[in-house]
Parts: sequence; C-alpha cells; structure tokens
Amino acid sequence: MRILGIETSCDETGLAIYDSQKGLLANALHSQIPVHIPYGGVVPELASRDHVKRIYPLLHDVLQQAGLSKHDLDGIAYTKGPGLVGALLVGACFARTLAFALNKPAIGIHHLEGHLLAPFLEPNPPLFPHLALLISGGHTEFIVVKAIGQYRVIGDTLDDAVGEAFDKTAKLLGLPYPGGAQLSQLARRGKPSRYQFPRPMVSRAGLDFSFSGLKTFASNTLKELSGSGAVTEQDRADIARAFEDAVVDTMRIKVSRALADTGLKHLVVAGGVSANLPLRETLTTLCHSKAVSIYYPRPAFCTDNGAMIAYAGAQRLLRGEKSDLTVAVSARLSIEKS
Ligand code: KG4
Ligand code: ZN
Repeated sequence: MRILGIETSCDETGLAIYDSQKGLLANALHSQIPVHIPYGGVVPELASRDHVKRIYPLLHDVLQQAGLSKHDLDGIAYTKGPGLVGALLVGACFARTLAFALNKPAIGIHHLEGHLLAPFLEPNPPLFPHLALLISGGHTEFIVVKAIGQYRVIGDTLDDAVGEAFDKTAKLLGLPYPGGAQLSQLARRGKPSRYQFPRPMVSRAGLDFSFSGLKTFASNTLKELSGSGAVTEQDRADIARAFEDAVVDTMRIKVSRALADTGLKHLVVAGGVSANLPLRETLTTLCHSKAVSIYYPRPAFCTDNGAMIAYAGAQRLLRGEKSDLTVAVSARLSIEKS
C-alpha cells in the first residue's frame, strides 16, 4: 500500500510517500522559518498562504522522487490537528480533494500520533508497550503506548511546552525564531556551573512539567547582568547553558520516575526537542543504566515532516479505517481519542 502523507499543522509543509512493503519512498519538506523570522514567531495567516503556495510543487517533487504517478497512490493521509486551523485546512482540503478525484481513501491523522510513530521509520523500531516522551513546540507529555491507537497520557505540562520555553528563552537571548537549536549551540560555549537554574516540579509527586519559570529565571538573570554593565556573548552562552542543563536534568529525573512508575522497558523520545543532543546523551545513559531500550526518530524526523503522517496513515488505512468526505480539522485534539 502506497500512502501519501501531508503535514501542514504549523510552519512546515511536509509531504512524503510511504510504501507498507518497501518503506519510505520519498520525502520533501519546505520550512517557512524565513517567512516568520521578521515577526519573531509564527504568523498564522502567512503560514496558511505559504502552505497553499508550496503544497502542489511538493506533491510533484515526491511523486518524481518515488518514480510514481498520482494514480499509483493507494491512499492519502493528512494532519487533522492539533495545530493552526488555517494551516491544517490547507493540507486537509488538498488531501481530501485529491483523494476524491483519484477515488482513493483519505484519513486524518493526529499530529502527535505522527510524532509518536516517527521512530517506526528507523531500522530498529520500538516494541509495544512503551513509554513515550513527546517533546515539541506545542507539547510536553508522557504517554503510555499500548499499541497503535491506544494512548494514555500520564504527564503533561502545566504551562509552556518545553520547545516553547526553549524558543522564548532563545528570543530573550537575542537568537532568531524558532531558537531551540540555536540556544543549544550557544550553550556549548557556556560555562556549566556559573548559574544554577531550578529543576521545576521535581520535588512534587507526579509526572507533570512546568517550564515557564525557567524562562523567567533567564529573564531575571539577564536583567541583573544588564543592570551592572553590558551583557557579553559569554554571559549569554552561560545563561543558555544553565537553561539547557536545567531542562535536561529535569527531563532525566522525570523520565526516571516515569519508567519506575510504569515498569516499562522501552522508551520512545519524539518531537522537535528530541533533536537536542545533550538531552539525547543524558537519556541514553539513563536508559542504559536501567536496561531500558531507547528509540528516537532520525534528526530530520524529530521536527514536523510528512513521513510520520504517511506512516501513521498507512497503519490506520491497513486496518480499514478511513475518514468520510467531511473536511474536519481541529486546533485542539486529545490524542487519547484519536
Ligand atoms: O515537533 P516540532 O517541529 O513542532 C511542533 O509540533 O511543535 O517542534 C519544534 C520545536 C521548536 O520549539 C524548536 O525550537 C524545538 O522543537 N527544537 C529544539 C531543537 N531542535 C528543534 N529544541 C532544543 N534543541 C534542539 N536541538
Ligand atoms: Zn510537531
């Protein structure tokens, strides 16, 4: 079964073709980051318009990469939410219309299910049941994954998602949007113990997170420094380092707790922030010490992409599921009901 996947929930237009027998046949992505940089964040209307511009050329691109015509497709999967409604509608309308014209099934996919299943595109796919740590610009969740479609959220963020905290702190440090990866690069030049940022929520029971305090801590540290003279490049790097160390250490403590609470022996780490190298190193070491297997998507599939949607769509269509002709998208959507 050859499935076209379409991802347009935010600021990346991602298309891919996944073959349930041969694996990934084609993948293409257009990032809108340069469109949004002047505004310091995603402008929803500009995002929708750019998806409209890019989606058709990207379809040609993936068909050409795979050496297929659109009539060779057996189904079309698109992101139905959560995300920006206008951006989602572009992908959903395009997918639904193409499927109707080709007389093929279409299926709406939960964006987070796409992220959760991205490691299944790798040579050594995760086993079920597993614990998933889903860390992106919009989400920070622990999810128990019993099987595809059986998800239970056991931890969530009370305020900012971890990627959002990275991006807001990066902005304070004068880095361009989105900022998470740039903050991490700046942190490499930072002195490890000049500042000690708090590890939020670790002394409280449970698996929830809170990251907005770290951004405030960074802001106050910057204010103190600028009150006593110019803030140097080294000062900014030291703050970035303290912020990243606090996030990574908080994640280590919470992952350790979640593994102990659930007794699960397989951990999936997915979503944009799973591209963060210090975090990967720390969680890999932790898992090795506990005889837990850890799985990540390749770096290009940590952030938004069409391949994860094509893969999730293939699994669902193979089970006989499909969406009806209604084009329904949603800004907020629980993964437990998907
Ligand atoms: O999964 P994703 O592409 O979009 C959402 O569904 O939100 O994640 C984007 C987020 C952004 O906040 C971005 O700054 C963050 O992932 N990110 C990183 C890194 N690479 C991307 N954060 C920290 N370190 C990185 N290396
Ligand atoms: Zn995402």
